[in-house]
Amino acid sequence: MARTPFIAGNWKMNTTKAEAVALATAIAAGTKGPAEVGIAPPFVYLDAVSAAVKGSAVKVGAQDVYFEKSGAFTGEISVAMLKDVGVSFVLTGHSERRHVLMEKPELVGKKAAAVLDAGLILVHCVGEKLEERDNGTTFAVCQAQLDELPATIADPAKLVIAYEPVWAIGTGRTATDAQAQEVHAYIRGALAKKYGKDFADAVRIQYGGSMKPDNAAGLLGQTDVDGGLIGGAALKAESFLGIVNAAK
Ligand code: 13P
Repeated sequence: MARTPFIAGNWKMNTTKAEAVALATAIAAGTKGPAEVGIAPPFVYLDAVSAAVKGSAVKVGAQDVYFEKSGAFTGEISVAMLKDVGVSFVLTGHSERRHVLMEKPELVGKKAAAVLDAGLILVHCVGEKLEERDNGTTFAVCQAQLDELPATIADPAKLVIAYEPVWAIGTGRTATDAQAQEVHAYIRGALAKKYGKDFADAVRIQYGGSMKPDNAAGLLGQTDVDGGLIGGAALKAESFLGIVNAAK
């Protein structure tokens, strides 16, 4: 089935406010072609970035969220707050939140449910560490992370899975086209078991991990690769748009 590719930039803990606005403005101006495009700046620049891309097709996303609606949760940000500043997609389960900030599967699952309950697009990240790939547990690790998702999801357009092998993130070491396709096909099969084949066929599965303009076409050309979640290469408009333009 034809799925619209979704290319999203995860800016992580980078940029000043002025840099964020300039980058967002350049991406909004340069975005053409068939792919859906999103950018996820740091929380504190969401409002300014939303204003900068207003009127363009660029979606604004958040890198994290807290699952409670409001209250005494010092430092946390709710889905309602994100909606209030123009956010339409939210990442959950990013490897840096799992392995650096030590988020547990139960917490990731609560966040994912809160995003979907609010009607926002969920970009749920999964992926194995190098030792897990080496000991043959890649599929099992991805399966466990997919199991964090709610038992039912109404609309497949609201779910995006980002397959990000941890050993490929920020390392310059990209999964080969075949390695990516193999895991993406596994993920689609797992979604089909849980939600049905039609649902799984409609879900976009992004690849993330050292995606660059020069390797994007090969990865995005794989049957089950429906976009990218881009870190380092998303911090320059030229390289990010190079990836956007590689999506057909
Ligand atoms: P890099 O593109 O820098 O490897 O980061 C990928 C990533 O983690 C996106 O969420």
